[in-house]
Amino acid sequence: MKKVQIAPSILSADFSNLEREVRTIEKAGAHMLHIDVMDGHFVNNITFGPALVKSIRNKTDLPFDVHLMIDPVVKYITDFADAGADIITVHIEAEDDIRGAVELVRSLGKKAGIAINPETKIDTIIPFLDIIDQVIVMSVHPGSAGQPFIGDSIDRIGKIKALIANKDILLEVDGGISSLCSQDCINAGCDILVAGSSIFNSNNYERSISEIMGS
Ligand code: DX5
Ligand code: ZN
Repeated sequence: MKKVQIAPSILSADFSNLEREVRTIEKAGAHMLHIDVMDGHFVNNITFGPALVKSIRNKTDLPFDVHLMIDPVVKYITDFADAGADIITVHIEAEDDIRGAVELVRSLGKKAGIAINPETKIDTIIPFLDIIDQVIVMSVHPGSAGQPFIGDSIDRIGKIKALIANKDILLEVDGGISSLCSQDCINAGCDILVAGSSIFNSNNYERSISEIMGS
């Protein structure tokens, strides 16, 4: 059976106890930490910058999966890489130089991803498939945690999986993930599940992760 990974999003963590949250989620079975960066421009919300990423870097051994919902983006990439990001994903909808952003991420020795919003045509990712390590399929509109999973995303996961079938690219799904839809995402071809509120709003992270993973 394929090994699916879980990437809890700290967007729904208790920020006043972030170190404890990060340590707890690592023990609970997370494979990586998903860090949602929002700029109040590409999306309405404002969240974290590189300083926060750096401040938790030495609290955990988990890889940092940094999801940049920001535009412009190129000028911030080196800062996030230096802060300890392992995977840096940029949005295809950003107006900045996305190819340049991806190439910069890779030149810094990090893995690069492209995220695609629910209403964006799938074919737009095709020109990037030779230079990326992951695709994030957004299953909610980016900008906030706790939104319902958009059902059409299952079909989009399947179509994107077909596009990357023979490539060394992982498929991550992000938004509204709970045990109600996780198995459908896995069956459609998803490799990494991002989940924020369904884990951090629960009182047992380990159990929530197991339920989402179906284990
Ligand atoms: C949405 C973010 C997601 C979100 C996930 O803009 O990219 O990572 O925080 O949170 P839930 O699981 O609550 O949808
Ligand atoms: Zn995200």
